[in-house]
Amino acid sequence: MLDYQSIINAIYQDAIKAKDKGIVASYIPELAHINSDNFGIHLRTSKGETFGVGDFEKPFSIQSISKVLALSKAMSLIGEDIWKRIDVEPSGNPFNYLSLIEVENGIPRNPFINAGAIVIADILVSNLQNPKEDFLKYIQALTGDDSIIYNKDVANSEKITGFKNYATANLLKSFSNLNNSVDVVLDFYFHQCALEMTCSQLSKAFYLFVNQGKCLQNKVHITNQQVKRINALMLTCGFYDEAGEFAFEVGLPGKSGVGGGIVALLPEKFVITVWSPGLNKKGNSRLGMLALEQFTTKTKLSIF
Ligand code: DON
Repeated sequence: MLDYQSIINAIYQDAIKAKDKGIVASYIPELAHINSDNFGIHLRTSKGETFGVGDFEKPFSIQSISKVLALSKAMSLIGEDIWKRIDVEPSGNPFNYLSLIEVENGIPRNPFINAGAIVIADILVSNLQNPKEDFLKYIQALTGDDSIIYNKDVANSEKITGFKNYATANLLKSFSNLNNSVDVVLDFYFHQCALEMTCSQLSKAFYLFVNQGKCLQNKVHITNQQVKRINALMLTCGFYDEAGEFAFEVGLPGKSGVGGGIVALLPEKFVITVWSPGLNKKGNSRLGMLALEQFTTKTKLSIF
């Protein structure tokens, strides 16, 4: 029997001693003041056991981790039609890279680069009655926790400095791959990214991806086939131009955010969430990746 608590405790002890904790994202000014000493891990197994260490109950900005939850909601609403507007290939480029959109005629490479996530936001704006409220309710339903909120200051901070996202949305619009106005879609997207959640809440929210589409509250949100697709996309595209490295080091489907969170999972077995705000050069949590590498090595639990 694996002693998960001792394993994550040992990883935590190593991590807090690390000299290079990475650099906290500052291109969204509201994120720049987050202390890079924060570090939390939370594990939820499919048997219902939970384990946590460090700052696992402290809310942080989930940023691009939200793209997986937005994709799952969009899939539940319009199914396969999504793939008429977005491809499913890794991009090998940074998350906010612009040139590919033009070269590929406004069809984003995948739903996790910003261009793809903005098309997903457009789909949600078109298909939800009150998009921001309904999306928040979806997250609250997945977790059974209605204390989860959008951090308005973070959403506003990103809006003020979101020049690349405006460029991206305008390019998509020029290729007729955005049905709503740029401002409305980006307002939704900035809020979605500004969701504040703890490691333990994220482990709950992602439970449906290890449990055949059924959330902790026992409600089926997406099909088995959709779970398979989302997990495949996390593995191949969840870390942008570092997706290969994450598969190589960790060997799990996962998704990062510039708030320093990473959620990774082994289907039918567990969800693990790590938060360490300092990022590496590719914009993924530096210590988060190292911690997950240690976790799958020590437990021998990866998909490979
Ligand atoms: O659009 C942005 O730049 C941010 N809201 C999200 C970026 C992000 O988290 C990239 N992932 N590591």
